[in-house]
Amino acid sequence: MKKKIAILPGDGIGREIASGAASALEAVGKRFGHEFEIEYADIGGAAIDSHGTPLPESTLALAKESDAILLGAVGGPKWDSLPSAQRPERGLLAIRKELGLFANLRPIPSFQTLVQSSPLKPEIAGKVNMLIVRELTGGLYFGKPSERRGENNEVVVDTLQYTRAEIERIVIKAFEFAKARDGRLTSVDKANVLESSRMWREIVNEKAADYPEVTVDHMYVDAAAMKLISSPGQFDVIVTENLFGDILSDEASMITGSLGMLPSASLSESGLGLYEPVHGSAPDIAGQNKANPLAMILSTALMLKYSLDMRTEGEAIERAVQSVLNDGYCTPDLQLEGSTVVGTDKMIELVTSRIAEETTASAGEVVYM
Ligand code: IPM
Ligand code: MG
Repeated sequence: MKKKIAILPGDGIGREIASGAASALEAVGKRFGHEFEIEYADIGGAAIDSHGTPLPESTLALAKESDAILLGAVGGPKWDSLPSAQRPERGLLAIRKELGLFANLRPIPSFQTLVQSSPLKPEIAGKVNMLIVRELTGGLYFGKPSERRGENNEVVVDTLQYTRAEIERIVIKAFEFAKARDGRLTSVDKANVLESSRMWREIVNEKAADYPEVTVDHMYVDAAAMKLISSPGQFDVIVTENLFGDILSDEASMITGSLGMLPSASLSESGLGLYEPVHGSAPDIAGQNKANPLAMILSTALMLKYSLDMRTEGEAIERAVQSVLNDGYCTPDLQLEGSTVVGTDKMIELVTSRIAEETTASAGEVVYM
């Protein structure tokens, strides 16, 4: 098959890890006989520097004409003092909105080989296999007005707005995933305080009737934050609104030991998908060959599976990653005793060379979604 892939490296470590995605695709192409036509474009701070705007028209056009999109990360201290409408993060929010990427999927498996790098006890961290379904194009991130007002600008307003249709489509997505997985859905809200959460809860209860095979429970977001630490193994699929999902997914990522391990998929109704690591641009380690490229490489695997109908190919990448970890290699963020610490380039090379051949991960096969 021939597929066109847009790679938007962005800023900071985004540029280093993006090369991991490209190498992984090349290796998949060679082994399985596909042709990936890769085109690069700027987003975020890099786009502010090259085009004067965090999401140039040309980048958006490339994304729209591609079969799928890979994104590194955006943001950095260089652009921190810009007004909010011109910040690098604005580019990321705008591409999500423009492409209608409302469903953000963040799978959080336990990597058996990495259990000791988790701050949680191994018997707790080792039992995790959840999927966070985060609403991505509504809520506080996009509600209007969002501004300072009043005399001297001493009043500030952000708006949490959702339409019924926006909630329905994300809730349906979450039910579909729960049905295909372990059949348990936890809807996270703040219905004891927020009207938006009360409507969210109503809709979840309505849709539950269409999915008798899925068990549903509701949890307030503060309680969910606590349960993620005390008993993360209880979750299968979590569905929640944009801001809660942002916060809970960073929290949940640490169960696996490092934010540097987690991929994500953002899907639209038409099926177009953007794939990016959950972590950010990590300016403190950028350019030092220290970044963990695995979240980006695993995002590439999700892309193959969910946007390009190449499940075997995606799993080949996942197995290659697993096999490198099983052999005791890790990047500095993982702090695994007794393992061989390697830099970004070396990790990319190790994984890529294992994609090239049939690899069997001997222990702890990881199921993403
Ligand atoms: C994420 C990030 C983004 C978000 C930032 C960079 C705007 O934290 O993808 O989780 O808040 O959505
Ligand atoms: Mg985040």
